[in-house]
Amino acid sequence: MSALEGIRILDFTHVQSGPTCTQLLAWLGADVIKVERPGSGDATRKQLIDVPGADSLYFTMLNHNKRSIELNTKNVAGKEVLKRLIRECDVLVENFAPGALDRMGFSWERIQKINPKMILASIKGFGKGKYEDCKVYENVAQCAGGAASTTGFPDGLPLVTGAQIGDSGTGLHLALGITAALLHRQRTGRGQKVLAPMQDGVVNLCRVKLRDQQRLKSGPLKEYSQHARGMKFGSATPRAGNDSGGGQPGRILKCKGWETDPNAYTYFITQAAVWGNICDLIGRPEWKDDPNYASPEVRISRLDAIFDAIESWTQTKTKFEVMDACNPLNIPVGPILSMEEIAADEGLRRSGTIVEVDHPERGKYLTVGCPIKLSEVNVEVKRAPLLGEHTHEILSQVLGFEGEELDRILNSGAVGVSDHEHSG
Ligand code: COA
Repeated sequence: MSALEGIRILDFTHVQSGPTCTQLLAWLGADVIKVERPGSGDATRKQLIDVPGADSLYFTMLNHNKRSIELNTKNVAGKEVLKRLIRECDVLVENFAPGALDRMGFSWERIQKINPKMILASIKGFGKGKYEDCKVYENVAQCAGGAASTTGFPDGLPLVTGAQIGDSGTGLHLALGITAALLHRQRTGRGQKVLAPMQDGVVNLCRVKLRDQQRLKSGPLKEYSQHARGMKFGSATPRAGNDSGGGQPGRILKCKGWETDPNAYTYFITQAAVWGNICDLIGRPEWKDDPNYASPEVRISRLDAIFDAIESWTQTKTKFEVMDACNPLNIPVGPILSMEEIAADEGLRRSGTIVEVDHPERGKYLTVGCPIKLSEVNVEVKRAPLLGEHTHEILSQVLGFEGEELDRILNSGAVGVSDHEHSG
């Protein structure tokens, strides 16, 4: 039995942040019904197209295990269907621009009247305050959440990261909020609103940078490379390049082949507990007892020299050889894996985190499966639905429309029934 079996989600999400949340809930067993605008659907269906005529990877990789109904929720009959959906579902998840649900005629008060146990879960760019009406995308959230100001090198521009911490990160936060609200409802019988603002989600992920902001009051941040290099600290947490975020100094170092391979690098952490092992491995056993190197306190001002010496060793090995040599010695290292290598990674495939899915329009493609593993639940990744693939099925089986009533809805112009509806 799936963890969320029996939970029905009215999925009003689009683009990335909301869909990542409802995809997780679908993988964990919820019945996710994605409501899409007739004719076009989620804008990502036709964004960054790689196979002409087929739904994009952008859409398919974010909407697995869901059902799709094409429904114009601004049309009278469409509103009638939406009302029935609200009655039949446990959670309504949305990430429209602020106010869109109210403008559609479905305020929180009205939703509660229709279904007093409903949980209304929303992603917005900002929480309550002067920016609450703003539209927000990933990089805006990364910048407004403090991530960009702390990413990059101290003498370079702020940088956004490739990990989608604003969108997918907030989707994760919302999924946790929804499961907590479901548990709360089980105990109290009451629904509630759950809000996950993207700025707040990014701030949560930047917690250690706010830690460093406060530590600055007590003097320079000695574990930052800029300290050893004599660069002064300003009033805000600086960009730390590839310095390790914790108290164990680490950097990205060249490995064999770096001259031609942009990813022939390793992350190398000089954890104090294994300093002796590191000295032996890189051929500097004398550093173990040298008072200039023997303790973390004295090493902090010599990090450039230390990492230069380690890099002289890592450059003689591939990033995987570095991993093989360091792991038995408990030295924490990490190869810089490219997306090409991730796609082929045997371990990730075995664990179901990288999976191949078949799609009627585009054939086989790779996707990221459920990254959360429950020992009692086996997650099967099913392809994303075609636009309106389940319109008829949802109207009849979930909402109970039949006969003339069903015909009236189907002919009202409020719903779209895809050519693919019965293609499976
Ligand atoms: N039937 C009829 N109308 C529909 C509909 C449907 N099935 N689904 C959506 N719409 C309407 C909405 O009601 C809205 O109409 P309105 O503006 O008249 O109220 C309209 O479509 C567009 O919605 P909106 O959310 O404003 O889309 P957008 O493309 O202009 O903005 C975002 C996109 C992402 C910037 C915006 O949705 C947003 O800021 N969301 C919150 C933050 C977020 O999640 N950002 C990250 C996205 S990855």
